[in-house]
Amino acid sequence: MYEDFAKVYDELMQEINYDEWADYIFRMTLNSSKPVKKILEFGCGTGNVTLRLAQKGFDMTAVDLSEDMLTVADEKAEAQGIENVRFFKGDMSNFQIGETFDAVIVCCDSFNYLKSLDEIESFLSCSAEALRPGGLLMFDMNTPEKYKETIGDNTFVYNFDNVYCVWENTLHPDEDKVDFDLSFFVRREDNLYERLEEQQSQYYYSVEDIFRLLKVPAFKNQKIYDFGTFLAGGALSDRVQYVAEKR
Ligand SMILES: C[S@@+](CC[C@H](N)C(=O)[O-])C[C@H]1O[C@@H](n2cnc3c(N)ncnc32)[C@H](O)[C@@H]1O
Repeated sequence: MYEDFAKVYDELMQEINYDEWADYIFRMTLNSSKPVKKILEFGCGTGNVTLRLAQKGFDMTAVDLSEDMLTVADEKAEAQGIENVRFFKGDMSNFQIGETFDAVIVCCDSFNYLKSLDEIESFLSCSAEALRPGGLLMFDMNTPEKYKETIGDNTFVYNFDNVYCVWENTLHPDEDKVDFDLSFFVRREDNLYERLEEQQSQYYYSVEDIFRLLKVPAFKNQKIYDFGTFLAGGALSDRVQYVAEKR
């Protein structure tokens, strides 16, 4: 997963407003009782949020499962002269970092790759270990509503300068997951197109289930926002932002 996709990821994501995304995370850190400086991010991908947060002055440790995505992220950090960032390969469903952080974050669909409530529970307990008391946990998730109503069994086509992408989905309501079948046609220097393929699955969980897992003694001040706002989110939101404070 995210091997060849890494070559075209940023071009395909060009309509996502990552400045706003990083700004939203930044604004959430302002609600912390103690200043946030050191952030641990999972599912950082090509570093779109990571590098923006580093530019805002946070010390970033960013982790992803895909070496190819991390290579792109590293190259971007170097090209932009950003030094307050470290990238590591790792799995958010089971990790131990050996130091503590002021915040743990996961952004932009990465959390929807966790395959079961057990994996989510494990992420939460590893995060609790990695956070200092009062540290913030912030992650977003697409809701079941969005998978069933928008992403569903639909096919999407994207036509950008150097990439033509066909994204076909198959909804599995019995398994609470959607399979993605992606074909990328990538323009080469000789103007011919190379075809790349990617299969992956995302999983959806009810807001109640996630909130129940967050309501453990390790955390307090649990909140669910309608993504991008500080208003209450819920089952009807497309994307929800979860926030909790380490006790
Ligand atoms: C949709 S991309 C999002 C990347 C980035 N957060 C962004 O906003 O552009 C999802 C990323 O999550 C990573 N990922 C998926 N499962 C993971 C896991 N269990 N642990 C760490 N990273 C994971 C993938 O490799 C991929 O880079």
